[in-house]
Amino acid sequence: MSVHLLLGLQWGDEGKGKIVDYIAPQYEVVARFQGGPNAGHTLEFDGIKHVLHQIPSGIFRNDITNIIGNGVVLDPVVFKEEIEKLKDFKIDFSKNLFISKKTQLILPTHRLLDAASEAAKGKEKIGSTLKGIGPTYMDKTGRNGLRIGDILSAHFKEKYQLLVAKHKRLLQHYQFEYDLAALEPAFFEAIDFLKTFNLVESEYLINDALQAGKSILCEGAQGSLLDIDFGSYPFVTSSNTTAAGACTGLGIAPNRIEKVMGIFKAYCTRVGSGPFPTELFDDIGEQIRKEGNEFGATTGRPRRCGWLDLPALRYAVMLNGVTELFMMKADVLNSFEEIKVCTHYRLPNGEVTDQMPYCLIHEPIEPIYETLPGWQQSLDQVNSFEEIPAALSAYIQFIEEKVGVPIHLVSVGPDRTQTLHKTSVAASS
Ligand code: GDP
Ligand code: IMO
Ligand code: MG
Repeated sequence: MSVHLLLGLQWGDEGKGKIVDYIAPQYEVVARFQGGPNAGHTLEFDGIKHVLHQIPSGIFRNDITNIIGNGVVLDPVVFKEEIEKLKDFKIDFSKNLFISKKTQLILPTHRLLDAASEAAKGKEKIGSTLKGIGPTYMDKTGRNGLRIGDILSAHFKEKYQLLVAKHKRLLQHYQFEYDLAALEPAFFEAIDFLKTFNLVESEYLINDALQAGKSILCEGAQGSLLDIDFGSYPFVTSSNTTAAGACTGLGIAPNRIEKVMGIFKAYCTRVGSGPFPTELFDDIGEQIRKEGNEFGATTGRPRRCGWLDLPALRYAVMLNGVTELFMMKADVLNSFEEIKVCTHYRLPNGEVTDQMPYCLIHEPIEPIYETLPGWQQSLDQVNSFEEIPAALSAYIQFIEEKVGVPIHLVSVGPDRTQTLHKTSVAASS
């Protein structure tokens, strides 16, 4: 009986999909607790690359129950497309995929509102993925939303029309052209498709599984620095991406959580607008983007790249109660002679701090770096922690000391097999 969390500690895209797929065989349940189609989780194995948006990353492992929790916002059209992409993999969704009836539904008008709001913001735009995330969570907290359970109601169409009428009134406030009639047939087709899946009270499913002694992995989406409360507000997503989100997004009590695995890249990336203290605007940033293939899995946008930011990482570790760290994409730094790591910030008044300031937007901060030697070799032949080159070991140790949490896993490529896991730990977890 245990609940483990796997959470992104930066601005998303840390490699959560790869790792959930890798560690999933240790669990009986994999559950998504927040976010929606704004997420793009990449898995690679047997020479094939898969990108999942709303379906949990345990879906390719046999005998695992995958749950889309009540904290998620689900777009039925994207869901149908995702399922159809998986049709060659002989997955029995009737046995291994369950969706909470309390999951909020993304309507076509939520997507239109997202686009209209972003267009109206002009240069101040959030850089949203335009998947309707913000407007759907607004309707949830405004107590207007439609939930998956509603699609089973004989009055669903009326409920839909009522909410759409409200959205149309809101859209009138924007100068925004749209053609809702062109979007609705695919939406209603997807709603009928969704009805054929297991729509359940997932809080009971999860707590019954716990009662039966089963182990549960909660898969986070986005990252801690995009959290609605603790991220670089307002340049954030609209859900709690931090550990507490797993409790509210699944109905899991905090005292059930045994382990919090925090995942971060050996450097930093961000997609969309908002502050990014260690961002690189030079050839080095370009080289990281190229070596790391840093383009969004959902939108294809180039990701902004920069050095590792330890004050931000420590902040995320503190907020989530991280018990072990997983470092991703070490291979991307293979060719660098020197690697910089931001250890502190200098504030506009000259003060040096290792804490996250309240505002990073109007009062720009200067990152203070320490420079470490690069390992300057390929990691293709490195198959265990013991074989890690000395300079990479020193980089790992430096981070562990500064953050105060051990690194148990180092990822050296996108494939499932390109993963170095401390064997003593892997065996016991
Ligand atoms: P997620 O949203 O956290 O699941 O991450 P994404 O899938 O959006 O982005 C991570 C990207 O890095 C994907 O293209 C992965 O295939 C890739 N990736 C994951 N781990 C590694 C790694 O260790 N090295 C390299 N080079 N790529 C990796
Ligand atoms: P995964 O799960 C990276 C970013 C967007 C934008 C901001 C708000 O793949 O790590 P939203 O569509 O949520 O209103 O956008 O958050 N964003 C992500 N960035 N990875 C993600 O998910 C993201 N989901 C949202 O780029 O800046
Ligand atoms: Mg992603």
